[in-house]
Amino acid sequence: MSSGQREAGVPNPSHVAIIMDGNGRWAQMRGLPRQEGHRRGLEALRRTVRNASELGISVLTLYSFSTENWRRPYAEVSFLMGLLKHFVEKDLAELAAANVRVRVIGNRDDLAADLRRLVEHAEIKTRDNTGLVLVIAFNYGSRDEIVRAARGLAADAAAGRIDPAAIDDEMLARRLDTHGLPDPELVIRTSGETRISNFLLWQAAYAEFVFAPVMWPDFDRAAFEDALAQYRQRDRRFGGVAAPADRSVGVA
Ligand code: IPE
Ligand code: IPE
Ligand code: MG
Repeated sequence: MSSGQREAGVPNPSHVAIIMDGNGRWAQMRGLPRQEGHRRGLEALRRTVRNASELGISVLTLYSFSTENWRRPYAEVSFLMGLLKHFVEKDLAELAAANVRVRVIGNRDDLAADLRRLVEHAEIKTRDNTGLVLVIAFNYGSRDEIVRAARGLAADAAAGRIDPAAIDDEMLARRLDTHGLPDPELVIRTSGETRISNFLLWQAAYAEFVFAPVMWPDFDRAAFEDALAQYRQRDRRFGGVAAPADRSVGVA
């Protein structure tokens, strides 16, 4: 059993989602251009993928570019697009060999055709892999994802293919980019910011949150294990009451 996989009967999460934040500040603190922070952030991403596999995590979702990130200066946006391209081109063979299955969520319509093709190629090449599922959230925004799902349902209802009264949460979840994936049990955000920034709003309904103070380029094995340890200490109640073994219930 690898370290951190199970402790005191509390299992590690099977799906961990990370808001990789703080690249710009990491660079700024060192008097470097923001781009250098993003470059180092890519190294942290590679490290985290390896660690997730070793720690027995089944699904790792990484927030790489939000639908709001288009508001950044053109040069930074193109740099981030280039970085994704570089990552897929350079790392795909290694990921495939490591039995990683790659999946990309987010709105592809606004991506350049070559990037879109690359992403599709990565998904097809790794679709039969059975190891870690690596989900890259790129041009991803939860509201956009939910709106696209709602449009699909509305179109089907208007065409008489579904009864509006039959729409339930499972039917909606099947229309989301994350269809078929379990909900994340743990969402980590680095850099000390304590907001969700339009990430997995639907899927994280009952996730535990860990806000780590480290800037993303410094996120290492110890920081990852620390977040998992915090998770294992949480009392997940899902609207119910604490397990009798954990808490004294009843009257004195
Ligand atoms: C996260 O780091 C990377 C992306 C959002 C693409 P930031 O670039 O947001 O870094 P800060 O928050 O400005 O430090
Ligand atoms: C969230 O980080 C998006 C990603 C990590 C890709 P931001 O840095 O863009 O979020 P805000 O603007 O601080 O909320
Ligand atoms: Mg940020």
